[in-house]
Amino acid sequence: EQIEKGGYEHFMLKEIFEQSKSVLDTMRGRLLVDEGVIKMAGIWDHLERLTNAERIIIIACGTSWHAGLIGEYLIEEFARVPVEVEYASEFRYRNPIITSKDVVIAISQSGETADTMAAIKLAKEKGAFVYGICNVVDSSIARVTDAGSYTHAGPEIGVASTKAFTAQLTILSLIAIKLGNHNGNLGKADFMRLITELDAIPKKIEEVLNSVDSVVKDIASKFVNATNFLYLGRGYNFPTALEGALKLKEISYIHAEGYPAAEMKHGPIALIDENMPIVIIAPKIGHYDKIVSNVQEIKARKGKVIAIINKGDTQVASMADHIIEIPETSECFSPILASIPLQLLAYYIAVERGANVDQPRNLAKSVTVE
Ligand code: AGP
Repeated sequence: EQIEKGGYEHFMLKEIFEQSKSVLDTMRGRLLVDEGVIKMAGIWDHLERLTNAERIIIIACGTSWHAGLIGEYLIEEFARVPVEVEYASEFRYRNPIITSKDVVIAISQSGETADTMAAIKLAKEKGAFVYGICNVVDSSIARVTDAGSYTHAGPEIGVASTKAFTAQLTILSLIAIKLGNHNGNLGKADFMRLITELDAIPKKIEEVLNSVDSVVKDIASKFVNATNFLYLGRGYNFPTALEGALKLKEISYIHAEGYPAAEMKHGPIALIDENMPIVIIAPKIGHYDKIVSNVQEIKARKGKVIAIINKGDTQVASMADHIIEIPETSECFSPILASIPLQLLAYYIAVERGANVDQPRNLAKSVTVE
């Protein structure tokens, strides 16, 4: 086992540090910037079906569901096909309206999640075309779906999903950009700009891993005894906030909630005092000015702000208690970079609390029970 951990103390840390490679592996042979194309064997024969879908329904559980939420932003922005995202466990029990004009995208790292499997079967019975995004090759979900793409992130052993999540975001980016290019919603210049930027992501992940590790470890040591955390983000980074909160919950057993930053004023703001740590994802993109006001509102109530910002940003940095810097990228790819310090923060807090990081209590890697 020590050999499998490759010198890291836990599988989770190893898997976090593998992400520049795993994201590159997800794109390998698919993203060809020099040729100006995205080649995806799984999608090739089904481009019409996907771009002509009346709607795309994404079904998944847990972390994969968070990736699905970001997939909704990506597909709607670039391909302009309406997307709905559902928990597989809700979808399967609520007699959903599905027709043969719908396309269902099922996302699962393990490819064995019982609720996702049952939701796929239901969608197929109702005539939908089901596309799978799985990490485990030849898994049950990969076999039962009509077509699909593997994420190729390599085996993920830690119960808390890390590299599978960033691989799912990479695949969803490729699919959304490919569909948008195919149906004419993305012009050549935008297509080239996006694939060039996506191509640069593995290097930027490496930059994040090299620069934030000790910073995050130090921040983590200050919040080991916290009993609650709030995670806030806007737009593409609202699901990133949900994922950050889930990571902390599962491995450190600290209660954490993710929220869209704008929803803070509709309830969670009541929780903020000097004992509440708030992780806010605040890169200088999208509605940055609104995030700045959120930080002001939190500081006015003495909340402790841990801000994920772009390198060189001084505005949020001057108000935050702690900052973690990540490189700039387009908003649509920022969740890939922003999720890495959130994984590390959860990891280091859990380790300091003496928790079993790779196998947290009550959790299984594949949830094959209903
Ligand atoms: C992730 O950290 C969790 N352990 C869990 O939420 C997981 O993502 C969920 O059970 C779905 O698993 P799957 O991707 O293998 O279907």
